[in-house]
Order: sequence, then C-alpha cells, then structure tokens
Amino acid sequence: MTKKLYVKSYGCQMNVYDSHRMADTLAPEGFVETATPDDADLIILNTCHIREKAAEKVYSELGRMRVLKQEAALQGRDVKIAVAGCVAQAEGAEIIRRERAVDLVVGPQSYHRLPDMLKRAEQGKAIDTEFPVEDKFAHLAAPSHAATRKRGVSAFITVQEGCDKFCTFCVVPYTRGAEVSRPVARIVAEAQRLADAGVREITLLGQNVNAYHGEDSDGHAATLGCLMHRLAEIPGIARLRYFTSHPRDMDDDLIAAHRDLPALMPQLHLPVQSGSDRILEAMNRHHTRADYLRLIERLRRARPDLAFSSDFIVGFPGETEDDFADTLRLMAEVGYASAFSFKYSPRPGTPAADLDQVPEAAQDERLQRLQADIERQQAAFMSAYVGQTFDVLFEKHGRHPGQIVGRSPYLQPVPVVAPASLIGEIAPVTITEVRTNSLIGTLAQASRQAVPLAEAVGA
Ligand code: 5AD
Ligand code: SF4
Repeated sequence: MTKKLYVKSYGCQMNVYDSHRMADTLAPEGFVETATPDDADLIILNTCHIREKAAEKVYSELGRMRVLKQEAALQGRDVKIAVAGCVAQAEGAEIIRRERAVDLVVGPQSYHRLPDMLKRAEQGKAIDTEFPVEDKFAHLAAPSHAATRKRGVSAFITVQEGCDKFCTFCVVPYTRGAEVSRPVARIVAEAQRLADAGVREITLLGQNVNAYHGEDSDGHAATLGCLMHRLAEIPGIARLRYFTSHPRDMDDDLIAAHRDLPALMPQLHLPVQSGSDRILEAMNRHHTRADYLRLIERLRRARPDLAFSSDFIVGFPGETEDDFADTLRLMAEVGYASAFSFKYSPRPGTPAADLDQVPEAAQDERLQRLQADIERQQAAFMSAYVGQTFDVLFEKHGRHPGQIVGRSPYLQPVPVVAPASLIGEIAPVTITEVRTNSLIGTLAQASRQAVPLAEAVGA
C-alpha cells in the first residue's frame, strides 16, 4: 500500500540533500513523495538551528501541522509528524514537550534508522539524536534513476559532515558533531550513478567541505582537490562545485584544481564573517584579514575569472564602528559577486552567547549599510556580463511558453527562448539584459544545436 510523504527543508543545501536521502530510504517502505502536507501520511520538517529565527519558524510550522493532523484524525486518517535536522539534534525531547503532536524526533546522524523509528512510533513517541558509530551513508538507500531524474540535472552529494573549527558563534559543531569525511570510492560511485541518470552538475556539500580528508583506495586520506580530479573524469559530469569552505582549509591541491579543472566552476563561496582582526580572533576563525586577502589573491592568480561570495555577521559581541568599517573595507577590496549577511544571533551553548551583546539598533543599522554595499557590488558584477557569451547548463522549463532556464557558471538563472531538447545540455548564451537576480540572453549563433554530450565534457 502506498503512503504519502511530505518533506520540508529549512536552512542549508545539506538539509535538501538529507531530505532526498530520507525520501529514498522511505521509498522501499511504500512512501511516495507529495508536494503538499494536506494529503500526507508522514510529514517531516527538516530543520535548521543556525540562527534563532530559523529555529522558531519550525514551531509555528508545527502548529499548522498539528491542525492538519487533527483534521485528518477526524476523517480516520493517522498522520505522523517528524522533526529532523539540527533543531531535532539540539532540542531533542524538548520538541515533544513544546508540541505534543510531534511523533518522531530524529537527529541528522540517525536518518538511516527512520524505517525502524516509524514502527516504534506506532507505540509511542520515538526519539533518536545519538551520534551512532555506524556510517549512516552506508545504510541510506540510493535514489532510483527515476527519483534522480525528477530532481533535475544538477545534484548534491554530501562528502563531509560536521565541523571541528568551533567558531564561537556557531552551533554546527554541536548539532552536526565532529568532522567526518566519506571515502572516495563511495562518493565516486554515487556520482557515477547520478551521471548515469542524466545528472550533469554535482555540488559537493559539507559544513566545512574543504576540510575533506576521505579515505582513498590506497588507505591514505585524499584532499578535496584530489577528489575533484576523480569526479571530473566521470563521463557526463560537466560541472563541479563545492560548498561551504573555510579559508584555513583552502590548500594547494584545491587551488591547483581551480587552475587545472575546467569542470570546476569559477564561483567560490568563501565566508570571511568579518574584516576586523580583533573580531576574527574573538570569533576563533584562525585567520586574519591579511591571510584572507592573500588567499583571494592566490585563487585569482590560479583562475582569473573566479567570482567570490561570502557570509558576513554584523554586530558580533564587542564589534565597534571601527571593526565594522574594516568589514566594509574588506568587502570593497575583494569585490564580491554576491554575499549573505546576518545579524549576530546568540545560540545557546556557544561561547559568544555569554558575551556582552551589541544593541539591536546598531546591529540593524550596520546590516542595512552592509546590505546596501552588497547590492551595489552584485549589480556591478552582473552588469559586466551584458554582451558577453558563456556556457549555460539548461535545467528546466521557464515560466513563459518556449522558454527554458539554465544557470551561468556563476550560478545566476538564465532564461532563454530555446527548444526544450536543450534541457540537460550545455550551450553558449549571449547575455542581452541584466535583472536583479537573473541574466536574460539568447542562444549564441554557433550553437543553435545542443553541444553533444561527449564534446561538452571534453571526453
Ligand atoms: N548568528 C548569525 N549568523 C550566524 N551564522 C552562523 N551562526 C550564526 C549566528 N549565531 C552565519 C555564518 C555562517 C552562515 C551559514 O550563517 O555567517 O557562515
Ligand atoms: Fe560553524 Fe562554519 Fe565555523 Fe564550523 S567553520 S564552526 S560550520 S561557521
């Protein structure tokens, strides 16, 4: 008998990947994914704990899910509600105390135990927030070809989880645990399966992805740069990306991979958080402003067209106007293609939560100034592309008839009027117009036809 599964992801792309893997693992149990919670038999909220707002969102959503569950019960339908992800890990049984409608609480390291937990949930509440010794990835089911195709031509693979850096603002080392890397052979096999199902672009994920040190077949630890070389050899895989990196772990191998691998896209998310040495030290970031700027310089030498993005935190405890001015100056020096910025949010159990906080009004004001600068930089970056031609990987149908949408090497969506047969293919597009978050273009003359697969991957 088929049952319906609704999974909602919050927060980072790692949660999106995990949500897919939970669905894959529940598929052999008869669960089929549905796009709305209204007719679901099992609702999973895959949550984020990184900032207070993200965590609180979950409880308001749970309130709505409780109403759905009560309505279904009146019609004789049993609906189970599960909370997964980092809120589950951080708050555990407390979630059920706050919201009785929740049946399961499952931490990110225990997803492979979901089928078993569902059986337990028939008898009462089921909670699992352990950090088990077995590798969950070895137990999570692989997606079927059909499931992969439905998810599109760009896919994620988690290659590393957890973090040992202990930045003083961050909950990740507590919710995701110590750093663990998956072995090279397993990742290559997963990439191969994705490629066989038509995937053309793979983004490697990890909370601290460039700290990757998975075991290679010779028993030694492989670097992320080395893993990239292996993945670039897989026929069909035309684009590689990785996310999120720590400046300290940007090693020579990885910088060389940016120089040597055309498949490694020229876009790098390299969060700096602050431009002030004093604040970087208080954040326990293990690098200075000068280290970061030198690194950007080295990367640009390796790959001159590399575009950078970053995360910034404003109003970290102790941040003065001068510290903040240092952040704005660093931004101007680097010239980012885009950036995310956040007000500091104290997270229970992290060292910075106990320090004297910057008043909210100052945080708000700094955030606005930073965001205005980010918008200016982003607009300057985008406008430089008018008239240029670059490869676009087409992913799906567009909003208008006859239109398909792809992504530029720099991740912007590019809607183009072109045949649907180009979906899954890479073709050069000339940019004619720039919108805030997308680039409008036309297929370049030379390639009104799809680039054959073998050519596109350089095979
Ligand atoms: N407050 C504000 N922003 C935070 N981030 C992580 N923890 C916090 C916090 N406590 C931001 C960092 C990180 C991004 C994923 O979220 O900038 O890079
Ligand atoms: Fe959190 Fe990233 Fe710092 Fe790790 S490196 S503690 S995930 S901000």
